[in-house]
Amino acid sequence: MAHVTDPKRTNSAIGELIAERLDDSQRRALLQAGGSLALLSLTGALGSVIAGCGSSSGDAPATPVTPVTPGTPGTVPGRPTALSFQSVAKSLADALSVPAGYTARVLLRTGDSLSTSVPEYSNLGTDTAESFQSRFGDCGDGMHFFGIGSDGKFSSGVSDRAVLAVNHEYVIPTFLHANGPTVSDARVRTVPSEVQKEFHAQGVSFTEVNRAADNSWSYRKDSSFNRRVDTATDMVLSGPAGTTPYMVTKYSPNGSRTRGTVSNCGHGHTPWGTYLTCEENWWSYFRRIAALDDPKRTTKELASFARYGVQGEGRELWATVTPDTADNAYGRWNAMVLGSGASADYRNVANTFGWVVEIDPFASLSTPRKRTALGRFAHEGAWPARAQSGKPLVWYMGCDAQNEYIYKYVSSANWDPADVNGGMAAGDKYLDSGKLYVAKFNADGSGNWLELSLGRNGISSAYAPYPFADQADVLINARFAADAAGGTRMDRPEWAGVDPLTGAVYMTLTNNASRTLSTVDAANPRYYKDRSQSGNPNGHIIRWLESNDDPAAATFRWDIFLFGARANADGTNVNVSGLTAENDFSSPDSLYFSPATKICWIHTDDSAYTDVTNCMTLAALPGYVGDGTTRTIMNTDASGSTKQVQTSASYPLGARLKRFLVGPVQCEMSGFAESPDGRALFVHVMHPGEGTPASSLGTPSAYTSHWPDGGAARPRSATVVITRNDGGQIGV
Ligand code: FEO
Ligand code: CA
Ligand code: CA
Repeated sequence: MAHVTDPKRTNSAIGELIAERLDDSQRRALLQAGGSLALLSLTGALGSVIAGCGSSSGDAPATPVTPVTPGTPGTVPGRPTALSFQSVAKSLADALSVPAGYTARVLLRTGDSLSTSVPEYSNLGTDTAESFQSRFGDCGDGMHFFGIGSDGKFSSGVSDRAVLAVNHEYVIPTFLHANGPTVSDARVRTVPSEVQKEFHAQGVSFTEVNRAADNSWSYRKDSSFNRRVDTATDMVLSGPAGTTPYMVTKYSPNGSRTRGTVSNCGHGHTPWGTYLTCEENWWSYFRRIAALDDPKRTTKELASFARYGVQGEGRELWATVTPDTADNAYGRWNAMVLGSGASADYRNVANTFGWVVEIDPFASLSTPRKRTALGRFAHEGAWPARAQSGKPLVWYMGCDAQNEYIYKYVSSANWDPADVNGGMAAGDKYLDSGKLYVAKFNADGSGNWLELSLGRNGISSAYAPYPFADQADVLINARFAADAAGGTRMDRPEWAGVDPLTGAVYMTLTNNASRTLSTVDAANPRYYKDRSQSGNPNGHIIRWLESNDDPAAATFRWDIFLFGARANADGTNVNVSGLTAENDFSSPDSLYFSPATKICWIHTDDSAYTDVTNCMTLAALPGYVGDGTTRTIMNTDASGSTKQVQTSASYPLGARLKRFLVGPVQCEMSGFAESPDGRALFVHVMHPGEGTPASSLGTPSAYTSHWPDGGAARPRSATVVITRNDGGQIGV
């Protein structure tokens, strides 16, 4: 890829670029120091801009900008220049390891009671289905720390008392029931209470957590903030696709409501203090037997089902329970045409999933709302850009499937800080009216946000693969809209994080087994083999900076921050980031920028490097978009065919990237939350022992992990809180 800076760019233009890299407080500091952004030298590439700022008296600048040259670390003012801990070694042990000087304590495990009226969890599979309405759910993923102020309302600066919101992405039926799930030879779930338990063990939990004087953390069983939202919770379908014919079901004949949320993977939050939970692999839960249902469907419906994968017997076979309840607790997972019309069955139910769902942690009686303006796809999460008063609010989102897209949503309303604690009404203001965009990454390092609105970018009734009828149709079928607009197909977009210092957006691209030699491009530049896997088995992290530091901008500049790889892999074409034994990793997933320490935290969810290590957590100290160099990657397939790709990659991070944690056997590390003072980091250890073998009926045998309880215990997912033994900030 060519460098993005024109060598003939004017000094004032370069000054603007430097200004883009500073946050508001840094700009203010410069102005207060009497400084102006002054160009000191220029070597031709954006990453090689050497900039400084000085006052008229020649004093040192208030916030110096360290020289940035290609291939060397750029020092971002306000970010530490070193990580203070010793890197943790890779490990296959059934244990959780953190550096010397740190303590990791289990805070909340699958099944832990969140009410004084619910007994402790047996972890033998004998606990009732109903009790899970007041238990911590299974398989925690995205999470957020909502400080509780002295008035009981959201307070972003409170570090000692909070509502911890945690997504529960799915369940492991093998561990949840005494002898695993009961499934007949005819593939029917024959024990309804097992299915009910699975309904309640998913969704979202809200739990009050508190810090004691000794810096330890606990949760309160008797807190009025404790709440579960699950697959049965009543929800409003809000925004342009709500209350439309596409959403009509027997549950809601006018299409205004649906029941529950499922496959809650990544998350997001709002500046007014609400939680966003995001529906990822929702499509897999619905039963739709193609041979029976296809003949009853329109061409458009069939195209939509195919584009989203709504077909099959349904994960966990929930729709097979008979007899059904009066309110169709089981039948509502059957997405086939069965009745006399859309209000007589659940033929449209799949349209009511795949959304970003807003929940108010501070109003336990409020009804969650599925915000359809943010589009329907395999939502990993919805991560906010920095909120600026008087400007639109922006959320970044990935569709986590192979060769899918990166999106952003820009609100119509401008942010008013007076809306903090505005609850669901603020959500109605900012999340129901706005524009959805898909990202296009150009080979020259530029990028475009392509608007996904009817009548724009080829999105019309004339689009042959899927003729759009209206904007609700566009949002429900956002993947088709992104196809029509010409977005860039990525290597499975997972989490995003916004650098609080530079405003750059980082997004993990976890891996892509179906990236081919013919489809590699500048933004997804690797095709290679790692043991038995080929494509991009180890993933990478892309980042971009919006033009003019405006999250609502139509254009951006991008480069690749980090490539996953084994340290001993080909250093030119695979281990492009120069990873070493201290920091090599595969399949980045959760990513989080600490507002307190400015560290970029990265979890892995890996199935490639697993012959050497369990999944892990890394800490990184990034520089700037464009601070690296052009790299030429030669990709070769099994037949010896080659394809060369040029891309721009960040400087090798060296000791600015360290492994901070390694989790237990067969876990995925997931989710980040942090006390605002940076002294407590919450992470989730998801599905340890997931590979435990089971009989054909799912009966567990020979657990591969006993974490966290040890002994002969069944493994449990758990949220862990990490503190520093001297009480300091984590990682710095
Ligand atoms: Fe649920 Fe994309 O991870
Ligand atoms: Ca994920
Ligand atoms: Ca993942």
